[in-house]
Amino acid sequence: MKLIAVANYEEMSARAAEILLEQVCAKPDSVLGLATGSTPVGTYQNMVTAYERGEASFAQCRSVNLDEYVGLGSEDEASYHYFMWHNLFHHIDIRPENAYLPDGKNLDARDACTRYDQLVSDLGPIDLQVLGIGSNGHIAFNEPGDHFVADTHIVDLTDATIDDNQRFFQRREDVPTQAYTLGMRPILNARLALLLVTGAGKAEALHRSLTGPITSTVPASILQLHNNLIVIADEAALSKF
Ligand code: F6R
Repeated sequence: MKLIAVANYEEMSARAAEILLEQVCAKPDSVLGLATGSTPVGTYQNMVTAYERGEASFAQCRSVNLDEYVGLGSEDEASYHYFMWHNLFHHIDIRPENAYLPDGKNLDARDACTRYDQLVSDLGPIDLQVLGIGSNGHIAFNEPGDHFVADTHIVDLTDATIDDNQRFFQRREDVPTQAYTLGMRPILNARLALLLVTGAGKAEALHRSLTGPITSTVPASILQLHNNLIVIADEAALSKF
């Protein structure tokens, strides 16, 4: 594991974008594993700026997102589809047909998960997987539990996650209670995993994930087994080390 300690969110975002852009320049048809949430917004902004300056093209990239809320579609502003188009895809030259997220509108969970797994496996190993971490230690929406799950699955979001994500909705009761999420297999198989961590609210989860036992009660702890993990964390996130 390589830990890159940075001062703040802006530095984290700049370093993360640099690594993503190096990846895309070295391999234009990269498979990018992408995350949503507050953490990668600045990273995506830097990628858009680089694209606008002509420093990178995503025309040959494929992207797979980690997760989507069950019941929400791209027209819903709180969906991860909407987030990705709004924050990144609309502003770069990725081809719409090459940008994938789980289908939150497919309420047949088994079908939705099987299709997404098939798609991810057809694309081949993810070249670079961007990850954030939940304050409860989740990665993607693999919530703390009594076992790790390998494949795409439906999850009941924990109260902690619903509380954390309430800020994206008008009312707490609007937050969906379930999501489709990639499991641990494609994350562990990614050629490079890039974990971005910012703010004091993530400090405990980060510390436990990197220094504690590998346990499904702290899902991100499984990243200790990743062959090629880069963590970019700011001072506040590193305050428990
Ligand atoms: C998002 C995702 C989640 C977030 C995590 C942190 O696609 O998979 O694991 O990375 O919940 O969210 P933020 O960045 O909003 O603190």
